[in-house]
Amino acid sequence: MGSFFPWGSLSLVIFLLLHSMLRLSSCCFVAERAALMDIQSSLGAPDSWGKDGDDCCSWEHVKCNNSTHRVSHLSFSDVCWTTSKVSCFLNSTVFSALRELEHLDLSYCYQCLLSLEGLVGLSKLRYLDLSGAGLRGGFPQFIGEIVSLEALALNDNNITGGLPGAAVRNLRNLRQLNMSYSSFEGNLPGSLFSLPHLKILDLSANSLGGRIPISSESGPISLEVLDLSSNHLNGSLSESVAAFKNIRNLKLGGNQFSGSLPVSLFALPHLKFLDLSCNNFVGHFPVSLSSEPVPLEVLNLHDNNMSGALPSEQAFKNLQNL
Ligand SMILES: *[C@@H]1O[C@H](CO)[C@@H](O)[C@H](O)[C@H]1NC(C)=O
Ligand SMILES: *[C@@H]1O[C@H](CO)[C@@H](O)[C@H](O)[C@H]1NC(C)=O
Ligand SMILES: *[C@@H]1O[C@H](CO)[C@@H](O)[C@H](O)[C@H]1NC(C)=O
Ligand SMILES: *[C@@H]1O[C@H](CO)[C@@H](O)[C@H](O)[C@H]1NC(C)=O
Ligand SMILES: *[C@@H]1O[C@H](CO)[C@@H](O)[C@H](O)[C@H]1NC(C)=O
Ligand SMILES: *[C@@H]1O[C@H](CO)[C@@H](O)[C@H](O)[C@H]1NC(C)=O
Ligand SMILES: *[C@@H]1O[C@H](CO)[C@@H](O)[C@H](O)[C@H]1NC(C)=O
Repeated sequence: MGSFFPWGSLSLVIFLLLHSMLRLSSCCFVAERAALMDIQSSLGAPDSWGKDGDDCCSWEHVKCNNSTHRVSHLSFSDVCWTTSKVSCFLNSTVFSALRELEHLDLSYCYQCLLSLEGLVGLSKLRYLDLSGAGLRGGFPQFIGEIVSLEALALNDNNITGGLPGAAVRNLRNLRQLNMSYSSFEGNLPGSLFSLPHLKILDLSANSLGGRIPISSESGPISLEVLDLSSNHLNGSLSESVAAFKNIRNLKLGGNQFSGSLPVSLFALPHLKFLDLSCNNFVGHFPVSLSSEPVPLEVLNLHDNNMSGALPSEQAFKNLQNL
């Protein structure tokens, strides 16, 4: 027999009372609203916040989860473009009140000095855009602790030094990573190519060197789009090609890759776009292609040191230009 008194329902009533006190009469949680007002005072924008009523879920640049009414999306890109503040300091510990945050866009907030370590506690964060955010110095190591990340953009910054393999290895949920147009140098860490879900990787326009760290023993990798253009990478492609089973779009132009083109490159089942221009590839085009047409639609080979005839039109009937 259970207790005569309905303690269970009573505590439920108390819980619901407390819950509604924490939430404003409309929709938004008090602590989340306060955090947003802190962010507004750091950024000097957006002006409309607070004037549009208490429900922060209906404010510009904010989205809430429809079932929990917690802030889930914040996009400051336009805010930072338009603020009249010439400098600001945004201490990311203010974001720690936004515990359900999934999507944070601080791109092109370059006039703000960002202290970013406070993002580490955001266990639901899936999308983080820090492109053009004026980041300098070494790779921000704390990013390796935000293991929930699925998309990360760090492009258009001036991040110097190497890519730390250990930080990258932790980000096992990553689907997309853009670190183009920065100042990374040193070798590519192998861990980057063993992330199980990584489909899009853009490291173009950096100063990376050495080889692509994939050997003939590496199993097939998940990458579908790989852009390593405009770096100082070298070595031949023959070792890595076999692993590119899922690749659709391969851009390696503007490096120092050498050797001859492996025929297996043209047997990759999904490869549609291939740019190998401005490298040191030599030798004949691998004409011994099977009569099966290759799926390639775009092929760019200019500025190499190749010679000899091109294969039959039949093999390349999907090609849109050459
Ligand atoms: C809203 O929050 C609930 C509970 O955390 C979660 O299961 C759901 O996926 C969220 N919805 C969206 C659209 O993110
Ligand atoms: C949340 O609700 C709004 C308004 O009812 C709707 O426009 C939006 O699509 C919903 N979002 C999700 C993820 O269900
Ligand atoms: C950010 O704010 C937290 C808590 O208010 C504080 O402990 C920390 O020192 C601040 N960081 C910087 C770089 O000012
Ligand atoms: C990047 O930072 C380095 C010093 O850390 C500086 O020498 C260089 O000029 C910067 N590059 C750009 C494009 O700002
Ligand atoms: C990465 O960012 C650059 C801008 O810096 C953009 O042009 C490029 O399309 C992005 N890469 C991918 C794969 O989306
Ligand atoms: C490739 O580049 C690395 C450093 O970037 C260099 O040490 C190595 O000698 C180069 N290898 C070849 C074959 O050019
Ligand atoms: C081009 O390749 C030939 C051999 O095929 C070689 O003799 C020549 O030095 C190469 N030129 C350059 C610029 O690498």
